[in-house]
Amino acid sequence: MSVTFVAAPKRLLTLTVDGQPVRVPEGTTLLEACRQQGIDTPTLCYLENLTPVNVCRVCVVEVQGSRTLVPACSRKVEDGMVVSSDSERVRASRKSVLELLASSVDLSLAAPEVRQWMERYGADADRFGSAETPQEGNPRDRARPGEHRPSDGRRAATVAQPAKLDNDTYIRDYSRCILCYKCVEACGVDAQNTFAIAVAGRGFEARISTEFDVGLPDSACVYCGNCIGVCPTGALMFKSEYDMRRAGTWDETRQTMTTTICPYCGVGCNLELHVQDNSIVKVTSPLDHDVTQGHLCVKGRFGYQFVQHRSNGKSSG
Ligand code: SF4
Ligand code: SF4
Ligand code: FES
Repeated sequence: MSVTFVAAPKRLLTLTVDGQPVRVPEGTTLLEACRQQGIDTPTLCYLENLTPVNVCRVCVVEVQGSRTLVPACSRKVEDGMVVSSDSERVRASRKSVLELLASSVDLSLAAPEVRQWMERYGADADRFGSAETPQEGNPRDRARPGEHRPSDGRRAATVAQPAKLDNDTYIRDYSRCILCYKCVEACGVDAQNTFAIAVAGRGFEARISTEFDVGLPDSACVYCGNCIGVCPTGALMFKSEYDMRRAGTWDETRQTMTTTICPYCGVGCNLELHVQDNSIVKVTSPLDHDVTQGHLCVKGRFGYQFVQHRSNGKSSG
């Protein structure tokens, strides 16, 4: 006799979102309830396959009776909640978050939605003055906890710094980093359990770093690329994409994506092969794939170069 396990039914909760009654199962977040109503709620540090860390605060909503705005991505619905997702207070808060980020970080490769949100909330990237001239070298990497370089108050401090090119698989360009922690989570308990990267420093000097700021080849990194897969700003990027962007040949309008199964072992990971001009230019995995939940190992992520080499030894590119 076969036994089928069925999860216990969940209690249905009722809340009001922007004046509309909504019923959701217990355990639903405010973000999910908003999405169920078709409300586009901005998120930067949230991703379906990672534990919410609540660091960007761009998703905040107003809950009646709550002194502070609450992060929609992690706050669970409670019966009877009255939620405003587009009040003046919510809009002002989201605008400030986007302005602070845009004033200090290069968001030019961030997802198109980020630019749409900036427009929607009237966020002005120059609100705090024009960007400061970046310092020579990379002083952020040498900053110690507690060290803060005072701003002159006229120009906006930035996280500008040279990209780190220390291996053949991917690059780290922290001038694009919004410190969303997604890469740290993917490298840690949410996926890879390697803990090769973490946040170092405090305040404005906080940054993502390997242990003792060593290069990736000397770190604990196993080159799974799961950090690249979750990075929302282009701070972590396949070396192939980086090189093509610099050469001016990267063109997503000429790329196709084919879903296939990784040939290396029997686990059965789904691979999405991004192909331009008959060459694989990067590999991702779908977030909703049961086996990978968007994460891969080094072989699936980077072990595709052999495809470009035919038996006559010539590259197909
Ligand atoms: S490639 Fe994998 S192991 Fe290396 S830093 Fe990224 S997530 Fe961690
Ligand atoms: S490198 Fe990318 S994923 Fe990591 S904290 Fe910065 S923006 Fe987020
Ligand atoms: S998306 Fe909710 S705090 Fe960042």
